Amino acid sequence: MSIYSEALRFYFLAVTRYRVHSPYLYELVSLLLDDRHFYAFDEIEEERKKLLTSKSNMTMIDLGAGSRKGNNQTKRIKDVASSSLSSAWQCQILYKLVSHLEPSTIIEIGSSLGVSSAYISNANPQAKVYSLEGNQDSITIAKTLAEKLKLKNIDFRLGNFDDTLPQTLESLDKIDLVFVDGNHRKDATIAYFNLIKEKAHPNSCIVFDDIYWSTGMTEAWNTIKNDECVKASVDLFYFGIVFFNEDFKQKKHLKIIEDRFKPWQKYI
Ligand SMILES: C[S@@+](CC[C@H](N)C(=O)[O-])C[C@H]1O[C@@H](n2cnc3c(N)ncnc32)[C@H](O)[C@@H]1O
Repeated sequence: MSIYSEALRFYFLAVTRYRVHSPYLYELVSLLLDDRHFYAFDEIEEERKKLLTSKSNMTMIDLGAGSRKGNNQTKRIKDVASSSLSSAWQCQILYKLVSHLEPSTIIEIGSSLGVSSAYISNANPQAKVYSLEGNQDSITIAKTLAEKLKLKNIDFRLGNFDDTLPQTLESLDKIDLVFVDGNHRKDATIAYFNLIKEKAHPNSCIVFDDIYWSTGMTEAWNTIKNDECVKASVDLFYFGIVFFNEDFKQKKHLKIIEDRFKPWQKYI
């Protein structure tokens, strides 16, 4: 199915928070989709604007999906900023998720230029954030961004996820939140999930970006949300979030849309 057909299907099946019966998930999705605006958003978006207008180049070694050329490529920073980063809307949902759950150990799989890392780090400065990236120039730019924003809790780790993810997980007793936003291939995404779930606990959650980016990613999302360890999932179209909490009596899969797209659901 094309992304447009997936979007249409999502629209018909999705419900607003008014149709969510679990009090935990109702509170969570209400918080994620509310219109609170934090001072940090403006600061980070100012930095995104600078990246979007940068005249400099960077070298990209594409290690993930989309690496058909396979070689190092010179790209304009502004092109990477416009094509590879999560949108402000996505980053702000991530920010609200992190500030609500207050995870103390976070892994980000795919730092790129450090924009989503900045949101995550800002949302809980007490957390330790491990941000993994395979491209040297991306990490250099991400580190500069974190320094500019005075974010001290991010440990950027350079290397292929195949190495850095198991190494990082091995050094941790447990993991509270993971943002998977790199190497959008079906097998890789499922493999990352299988590694992460070994260190997950009932209050952990994993956020998957771009779950409808390709047929493979949608298949990966379906496999993951149906895994026996997953007790609930929230699909926001651009993101899928899975939870491991045993308190969910029945497995719940929710497709959630903002109130403004189905306003009548508030009343009927
Ligand atoms: C979509 S971007 C991340 C965007 C970032 N999370 C944001 O929203 O600001 C994905 C990143 O993953 C990196 N990547 C992809 N596959 C990788 C792999 N196998 N190992 C290491 N890095 C990889 C790419 O270099 C790219 O920078």
